[in-house]
Amino acid sequence: MIKKILIVFGTRPEAIKMAPVVNVLKNDFEVTVCVTAQHREMLDQVLEVFAIKPDLDLDIMQPGQDLFDITSKILLAMKNIISEKKPDLILVHGDTTTAMTGALAAFYSGIRIGHVEAGLRTNNINSPFPEEFNRQTISKLANFHFAPTDLSKKNLLNEGVNEKKIYITGNTVIDALFFAQNKTEDPSVSEDLLRKLPFIKDFDEKKEKLILITGHRRENFGQGFMNICEALRSASIRHNNVHFVYPVHLNPNVQGPVNEMLGNLENIHLISPLDYLPFVKLMELSYFILTDSGGIQEEAPSLGKPVLVMREETERPEAVKAGTVKIVGTKSQDIYSHVDELLTNPSSYQEMSEAHNPYGDGESSSRILSALLEVNK
Ligand code: UD1
Ligand code: UDP
Repeated sequence: MIKKILIVFGTRPEAIKMAPVVNVLKNDFEVTVCVTAQHREMLDQVLEVFAIKPDLDLDIMQPGQDLFDITSKILLAMKNIISEKKPDLILVHGDTTTAMTGALAAFYSGIRIGHVEAGLRTNNINSPFPEEFNRQTISKLANFHFAPTDLSKKNLLNEGVNEKKIYITGNTVIDALFFAQNKTEDPSVSEDLLRKLPFIKDFDEKKEKLILITGHRRENFGQGFMNICEALRSASIRHNNVHFVYPVHLNPNVQGPVNEMLGNLENIHLISPLDYLPFVKLMELSYFILTDSGGIQEEAPSLGKPVLVMREETERPEAVKAGTVKIVGTKSQDIYSHVDELLTNPSSYQEMSEAHNPYGDGESSSRILSALLEVNK
């Protein structure tokens, strides 16, 4: 019997994707929300949007933390929390070190584990690093695998996971996105955007173009980021009537090169990370998106926004197959030419800009709820 569920998350994307799950499960289960605060400001932004008040906050984030710091702090803290709360199930999300360590702590304590967003694979343990390892490890430990798509289910079956433990749910990011889309017209969202991007006041998406950029992957640190910045620099000079908007991740490994290499260009707008609602609004206003983010690869197809992914491979091939997402790698020239092509060739743009929804219908959290209620029957 599952009565008490401990939900553990710690970073911005986990919070966005777990918020709808928290809000659905709390009606039928005794839910305790534990945030590790692997992220701080970027996590708090999301908690506020979804009105979630964590029951427990490990508050572990330190500037410039490494994988040893995060893993060891969370594991030790979880030991005490589990012995105090005695949950029947621990729910984790995706592939972060918070998720992997939360699952490991559950495993050490003999507590059942539910894995939301299970079964995505590149099958290259070094890419994304350390996320592919984290995700595979959680699959080894989990009792309930909530796979977003048929393909993610297939990946789990190929690894010998019992089919009865796999539930295809869609991705909860679409639940979050639909919630956000209903609120993007709120005046507070425009005010927030205007504060950071004054040019938005007169921006007319029918006459002007805005390219939205994000990037933070560990495997891109160093040369990868320099290449990305070089490409952006060249593209912004060649297309000086286009707005390049880049909410820069707070990781110092990202802030450093981005501010240094792109800080002095008129049409590149470097801003701090946006709250989820203004970010969704900016995705809607954008012509296309340039990113290495996982979540954005899942959201953008639903909005019909082309995405150029600055990575060598992706664990999300569904959107590539649908045509909205293209993997462009991390070489400066390749990024530049794909940006240039989308800006100058309307038919290339048209091909990529149809809305697709490979990741769900906004009901993923309800499917997770149904699966867990079924376990209790
Ligand atoms: C983490 C996850 C990654 C996920 C990403 C989402 C791991 C190993 N990495 O990477 O899978 O895709 O989050 O963004 O789990 N920082 C702040 N304030 C914040 C957040 C971060 O200042 O609110 C800075 C701090 O200096 C921190 C650093 O960013 O030490 C790195 O944060 P960390 O969570 O370790 O790595 P991410 O690159 O954010
Ligand atoms: N996002 C946001 N504000 C920003 C940038 C991104 O709210 O300034 C959202 C975005 O819509 C997506 C999620 O954050 O839902 C992606 O997070 P991130 O790229 O940090 O992590 P990943 O998905 O790559 O793990």
